[in-house]
Parts: sequence; structure tokens; C-alpha cells
Amino acid sequence: MPVYQTELGWVLETNTTAYAFGLNQAGLLVHRYWGARLPRHEDYPPATDAKGWASFNNAAQLTQEEYPGYEDMKFVDACIQVIFADGVRGTVLRYASFDLDEGALPELRIHLRDTAYPLQVTLHYRVHADYDLIERWATVANQGETPITIERIDSAQWHFPVAESYRLTHVTGRWLDEMHLRREVLQPGRKVLESRRLTTSHHHNPWFALDRGGSCEDAGAVWFGVLAWSGNWKLSADINDFGATRINVGVNDWDFAWRLNPGDTFSTPSSFGGYTEQGFGGASRLLHDFIRDTIIPHGHALHKVLYNSWEATTFNVDEASQAELAELAAEMGIELFVMDDGWFHGRDDDTAGLGDWWPDERKFPNGLKNLIGRVNGLGMDFGLWIEPEMVNPNSELYRAHPDWVIHFPTRTRTTGRDQLILNFARTDVQEYIIGQIDRLLSENNIVFIKWDMNRNVSEPGWSDAPGDPRELWVRYVQGLYHVWGTLRERHPEVIWQSCSGGGGRADLGILRLADQVWISDNTEPSARLAIQEGYTNIFPANTMEAWVTDMGPDYLPLAFRFHVSMCGSLGVGGHLVHWGTERRAEAARWIALYKELRPVVQYGDLYRLRSPQEHAYSAVQYMSKDRTEGVLFAFRTHLPPPANTPPLYLRGLDPDASYEIEGMLGARSGLAWMRTGLYLELKDFESTVRRIRRV
Ligand code: DGJ
Repeated sequence: MPVYQTELGWVLETNTTAYAFGLNQAGLLVHRYWGARLPRHEDYPPATDAKGWASFNNAAQLTQEEYPGYEDMKFVDACIQVIFADGVRGTVLRYASFDLDEGALPELRIHLRDTAYPLQVTLHYRVHADYDLIERWATVANQGETPITIERIDSAQWHFPVAESYRLTHVTGRWLDEMHLRREVLQPGRKVLESRRLTTSHHHNPWFALDRGGSCEDAGAVWFGVLAWSGNWKLSADINDFGATRINVGVNDWDFAWRLNPGDTFSTPSSFGGYTEQGFGGASRLLHDFIRDTIIPHGHALHKVLYNSWEATTFNVDEASQAELAELAAEMGIELFVMDDGWFHGRDDDTAGLGDWWPDERKFPNGLKNLIGRVNGLGMDFGLWIEPEMVNPNSELYRAHPDWVIHFPTRTRTTGRDQLILNFARTDVQEYIIGQIDRLLSENNIVFIKWDMNRNVSEPGWSDAPGDPRELWVRYVQGLYHVWGTLRERHPEVIWQSCSGGGGRADLGILRLADQVWISDNTEPSARLAIQEGYTNIFPANTMEAWVTDMGPDYLPLAFRFHVSMCGSLGVGGHLVHWGTERRAEAARWIALYKELRPVVQYGDLYRLRSPQEHAYSAVQYMSKDRTEGVLFAFRTHLPPPANTPPLYLRGLDPDASYEIEGMLGARSGLAWMRTGLYLELKDFESTVRRIRRV
């Protein structure tokens, strides 16, 4: 049984890990253990009562509580802070009861109650045994007669075994330059990662990996976690001088408040935490499987090779230009033709049109049907770009509803890319957008939507908010999920792609709606290698849309460009008319090869052999789940002479089976390829793709 109770408390067991907590003598719900699964129930340590150390550090501060309230002399981040109607701000939570749902996905619920006020907090724990993950979230209920204002509410506080030091791995970046891996030793104090931008953001991602310093890609203990949320979030890692390390994660408490009226409940997003002894690679493979199997809507559907018009035609789309590209794309073996920005009413550049989601009459006098018919006639599916949360001041929608945007009435409405943000927290806005996009999808044979969002928030006002105006941050995201979710329900066949100027909205919340992410506007392949590496620490390759384009220097060979994009869900975005016959013929060969490889790339196990963020010579390998076939990609950017390329040690092979590697002489055992490695000769800006076959 993955969840059980003993006299010491509760234990949640996954395939290889365990997570335990219980009540200590003082009646506090405290953390007991998180790590490798232990053989016997009694192996898990009891819930202890901390001893105070000095009058400055009493027991409350030194207790590892599962979900601390705001009381006593704790000085740690409380998971929940509220203001009651009488102005009292403390939350004193004590255990009340528990219940256990023993379904296929066991869920343990621990009910805590405030000792003086009618406030109930339920801690939810779900066990995802096959992925070694624990899911945690909290629900708070106002069971009284007066409103309660929530000022802070986390999804979870995660505790780690007492250790001399920990190293935190996370990603940072910016537009065009997302997902740089950072590894830093935590020193006493608090390290905060967050978004205050209304979206997940290009700058940080709600993901962490924690190790004790010695772990690497292939080995070592790693604790890791993600937050399934697409709005403002906060992750704070706190290490103190008593050796305690904790990470709080949840919606950001910055500028946040929520009025909980009598009878209301509020639920936090889910925080997932995992543990592995297979290093950072093992941690990411668990997340990959979990996301593919349980989060993304279309499960294990193979993604089609797509063409996207953006970098070729930008806003200059019309039936003739798109049909010309479509014909060339079809000849190359492309399966899905996506028309990007520029197709809708009044859209000639980025200063106008957002909000008016019907085809521009000058560019498409007969609507989209003719073009879609031509694309379908060429044997391809059709997809479309939209940016439904946005409005240009120069649009019919804004002229009709200037009050629908996020704004403060007395302040300038700051534009970004000449656009303002529709307040998706408002139900009238939600209904309007659902109606517009639903019509588009009902009237046209569209099977793919790229959902974009190209600015962050400013003047976060909502004058006629029904509750506290600071609820905007959360209600906006709930509104977004509602709009997108409703459209998904009405059009279940559609594949959605999440884009926010590239990778500004990549998280497990949005992946419940979108099957893919456009991870960066940077399509220069050598830069992309690094961005892709960071991304795959969290997300699986099938969600990683990657186009071959013309960005970057001409000396980057087409093969190199294709190899980089073939590491994810392959797309093409170059100007096919300018490519010429020879380039298109070469592209067709790579596309044909990718179609053979894609089950392994999109759904196999991913091994990062050499990091492109650290080395000019890098490699990544994919293996089918049954270990019978795989593929190896290797890339060399610039290595100054007299450098030699080091051996690549393969991973994930069956040690006793025999394997052949394309281009290498003879079959050898899996163990031999993994231990002795293989040498590849590559010149600067050369790359290679090698199939791996069990014989
Ligand atoms: C930003 C996206 O990331 C690009 O791929 C493209 O769709 C443009 N927006 C269009 O405006």
C-alpha cells in the first residue's frame, strides 16, 4: 500500500522512495523523512520535538513543520498568513483529522484547524508511485461568519535531511535566451526565485533540484520539484545555522491577497516533489515520463513535422504567399502547415489588430477556407497562431471595451509591443474570447493552435473586482485555464502549443492544456542547443517544438540546423522559396529520417551526455523504453586547435545485449559502449546523428 499509517504517523511510498511525517509530542505535524524507500515501517524516524537552543531560537523555530502557520517565534516562512475580521494576523494550526482515498491514485488528506478561528486547512498528498513523485497542495476553508483575508498561501514546504550544505540547481534567462542552468551552493539565508510578471516568465522557472554537491547527470541523490502554475509564483530555499534546509513553493505572496468569504474555499496549485539516486538525468527522466503519461492532453500521440510561417513572412501573410510556402513544405514531407501572426483583421504590423479575431478581408477575401482547403489538398493539416489575451489600442475590440484591459483608471496604460492585456479574470472577457476562438475553430478545419502572449503586466489594476483587487494575479490565471480548458473541451482534436514570446510560459499548469511549448524565439541553432539542454532538465522532448530556420551565420550547415531541431519535435521555419531546390531536397531527407527516429526522440529516455552549456562539443542520446533502439546526436561548435573531441560514453543500453552504432565498426556489448565510449571526428560547426540498434 503506497500510503499507510503507523503509530509514528503517515508514510507515503513510491516505487523507490518514501516520504514520512507525523505528530510530535507537542501536537505539531512535522516532517520525518524523504529519501530512498526503507525496508521496514519502523525504519522511518519518529516525529521529534525540537529543543530550543537559546531564548533567540526556541523550539518553534527549529521544528520541521509540514505546513507552519504564523505563530510563536518561528521566523521561517509560514505557509499561510491571514487577517481575520478582528484584525488578528496569526494562524495557529493544529491537527484535527485525516482521511484517505485509496483509489488508483491514493490521496491522503490531513485536516488542520485554527485553535481560535473557524479556519480549516486541508493538506493534500497524492502518490505518483511509478514516477517517484509526491504531489502536494492545500485547501483552505472559511467555516465562519466573517471574511478572512489570505495574504500568503503556499502549496507546500519541503524539508531536506540535515546536511552541511546543499547545492541548488535552477534555470534563469531572458527573452531569446531562456533556460540557463545555474548551480549554486546554498549558504545560510534565503534564496528566492519568483515571477511577478503574471506569467511563468522567461527569467526563472518554478523548478528546483537539490543535491549535496557531489551528484552529476548519471548518479547521486537529487531532490527535485515543480509547481504546476502559470502565473506569479515564488520558490524560496532557506538554509539556517542549525543545518535545516527547506523550500517553500506556491503562488507569489508579493502584492497578493484573497478575500475568503464565509463558506468559501481556496485551493493552491499542486507542487510535485521527487527523489532519485540516479542524478540529474534520473530526475529529469522521471519528470519526462510523468509529464508525458499524466499531464499533457494527447498522451503519446506522435507530433507531426510542422512548418511555421513566422520567420519567413512575418506579418505579410495572404493566401498566395502562404499557399506558395505550403506547396514547397508539402514536397519536403511536412505534415502540418501553421500560419503565424498577421492573418487577422487590421494586422499589418504589431501596432494593430490584436483582439479582432477574424480573417483580414484584404489578405483573405474569402476567409481562411480557401487556404485551408489548399493546405489540406496538399495532404497537410492546418494550424493557426493566436494571441487571445492581448489587445492593441488600435483595434475594434479596444475601441468598444477600453475598460476590459488590466489598468489603473488614473494611470498611464503602459503598452508593451504596442499592446495591453485583457483582464482574463473578468467573466465577460472570458466569454467573449471563448466565443471568438470557438467560432474560428468551428468554422474552419484547424487542428493546431499556437497560443502566444507577448508582454508582461504593468499597472495591475481591476477597479470593479468583486473581492480584493489583488486577487487579479490568481484569478487571471484561473480565467486563462477556464478559457483554454473550455476551448479544449469543445475541440478535443486540436493540439495546442504554449508560447509567450518563446519560453515565457512553460510549466506543468499550462501543459495540462497544451501539448507543446515554443521554447524560445532564438532559433540560431548553436544558441538553441543550450536552451534545449536547460529545457530538457524539466520537460520531455516531445513538448519541445524546434524549428529549422535561417537565423544565424550562413556557415552553419543545414545538417547542423536539422540535427539540433531533431532533438525535439521537429519543425521548419525558414523561407522555403529562398531555400532553392537543393536545400529543400536535403531538408526532405532529414525530415524523412526524423519520421523514422521520432518515436524514440519524442517518447524514449533522454540522456544528456555532454552539456552544450559547458562544452563546445556536446551530445544527447535517446533510447527506446525497451532498449532496442536509440539515437545519438553530437555537435561541435567552436573548439580552438589543438583540441580533440573526447569519447562519448553511451547511457541506458542493456549491458549484456549487443549493439551496433551507425558508422562505427562492429557490434559491441552495451556495457562496452557505456564504459569505453566512442570517438567521433567532427570539425567546427559539424554535427552527426547516429542510430543505435540492438542486434
Ligand atoms: C512571438 C513568438 O514567439 C513568435 O514565434 C511569433 O509567433 C511572434 N510572436 C508573432 O508575433
